[in-house]
Amino acid sequence: ELPIAITGVASGIGAATAALLSGAGATLIGIDRTVPAAFSGTFVQADLSTPGGARAAAAKVAAAAPQGLGGLANIAGVPGTAPWRTVLGVNVFGLRELTRALAPTLAEGAAVVNLASSVAFQWRGLAEACARFSLAEDMEAALDSVSGDEHATGESYLFSKQCVRFLTERLSAELLPRRIRVNSVSPGPVQTPILEDFKNDHGRDKVEGAAQLLGRFGEPEDIARVVAFLLSDAAAWVNGSDLRVDGGLTAYRTTGAL
Ligand code: NAI
Repeated sequence: ELPIAITGVASGIGAATAALLSGAGATLIGIDRTVPAAFSGTFVQADLSTPGGARAAAAKVAAAAPQGLGGLANIAGVPGTAPWRTVLGVNVFGLRELTRALAPTLAEGAAVVNLASSVAFQWRGLAEACARFSLAEDMEAALDSVSGDEHATGESYLFSKQCVRFLTERLSAELLPRRIRVNSVSPGPVQTPILEDFKNDHGRDKVEGAAQLLGRFGEPEDIARVVAFLLSDAAAWVNGSDLRVDGGLTAYRTTGAL
């Protein structure tokens, strides 16, 4: 079995995905800016907030996978409480650059899974702006170009995750000729360290109200199982899709009150 690369393995959903896959016998290459307390596999320390950092990480991952990679899970992400350039740098460009740099290493039949968010569903109207931003060749210029855009900077996390949904479809199209699948997962609120930042960013009452409605927050394992499914051959015909994993929150908020 070829190794699977996972970003964000030092915490939350990335750590849970690594534990699940390694428990099932997978060989892993983990990537994070923080050294994980527990991780079994090859670990690559890298800062994915810059294209240079993402490409350096890709080179180390490729060196650790001489036979090629069986999958890539882009799970690392930062909340909207971080500076907007960092949010867009990690969540959008870090993900894109790492995936493109690793594309030659991904074997035919491999799968990529990106972490978007259920909040991205509120942003259908921004598809065009996200497409333009996500595809920009010059990332510094792209960041400068949205510096006056209230959506991109004031609600950078939501913008970044809409971009992830766009990039998932786009990368799926780019990698289709190589028979590499690319899908995304859109979680609702999940009990991880990032949740406290979400409460500060989106409003404590809104986030806690979601858990009240659903009976609980999501657990990292709720998401890890779906990431593992999308990486596996059980999802062989799932490509370019987003799978919402939010306990029913979005459906309820969109239609429950009708
Ligand atoms: P977390 O904060 O527990 O883990 C994020 C990981 O990403 C950390 O290990 C961190 O070190 C790593 N990371 C951040 N910036 C990095 C950088 N520049 N370079 C390398 N690694 C970096 O968060 P969680 O909850 O596990 O989030 C995982 C993904 O799921 C993120 O993309 C997040 O946006 C997404 N998500 C999480 C939700 C939640 O409620 N927890 C809901 C929806 C989406």
